[in-house]
Amino acid sequence: MIGVFDSGLGGLSILKAIRKQLPQYDYLYFGDNARAPYGTRSPELVYRYTWQCVHYLFEKGCHLVILACNTASAKALRDIQQNELLQYDPKRRVLGVIRPTIEQLPQISHTGHIGILATEGTVRSNAFPIEIHKLAPELKITQQACPMWVPLVENNEHNSKGADFFVKKYLQEILVSDPDIDTLVLGCTHYPFLYDKIKNEIQNRQKNITVIKQGEMVALSLQDYLHRHPEIETTCTKNATCTYFTTETAKSFNEKAKTFMNEQIYAENVEFWHDL
Ligand code: DGL
Repeated sequence: MIGVFDSGLGGLSILKAIRKQLPQYDYLYFGDNARAPYGTRSPELVYRYTWQCVHYLFEKGCHLVILACNTASAKALRDIQQNELLQYDPKRRVLGVIRPTIEQLPQISHTGHIGILATEGTVRSNAFPIEIHKLAPELKITQQACPMWVPLVENNEHNSKGADFFVKKYLQEILVSDPDIDTLVLGCTHYPFLYDKIKNEIQNRQKNITVIKQGEMVALSLQDYLHRHPEIETTCTKNATCTYFTTETAKSFNEKAKTFMNEQIYAENVEFWHDL
């Protein structure tokens, strides 16, 4: 099975795109909803929580886990790859979502001015500017933390009037910081659920800006990865199933996840508080 991990519901936007591109595989989705949001937590805590969830997915039989969470990709991926995997099983793989997202940016932007919308943790880590500048040092990157967006999605308020206020607020801030931005990256997997509102606000401002959602890019990158790594591909079972785990109550997760996935979801509750 392929494990897909997020702090909560945001990773469903990645899972949806991956399943569309690669429907044949079996997936285990893990949402750490009880401890979301991760975006305002310390690097140490994000690392500890992320490894605990990845470890759980490994124990469930996943050989490959996607961190469908930018905050975890920014703050925990490298340490998990360099420390935990060596001790646990060097043949297992953990991949993040930041690298696949940035690869096309130099071709997409005409002005060379790119905006990154992300959680406070991802912004503070500078993971996006660091990775982008490895590829294209000439690009001008402006970051904006949007701390209210994840709670809006986690609480199913992303279609509300209140959400309009916070969409406007953060877009205003980043577009004042750099009015030449022509490409905005939704650098948090929760944000695609606010996509329509974000597009509306950009239209209201009469701006011509490309808004990048990560799902399709991550899905294509995973397809390419599996093609290049047959030794991993053969560990992935192919019965087109998807199983969900959450640290919240299953009922709460099922209700919210159903609206994002447009299908009935039956999650299983995971409790590992005693291990903390
Ligand atoms: N969805 C996650 C991300 O992509 C984390 C959101 C959060 O828990 O703060 O960054």
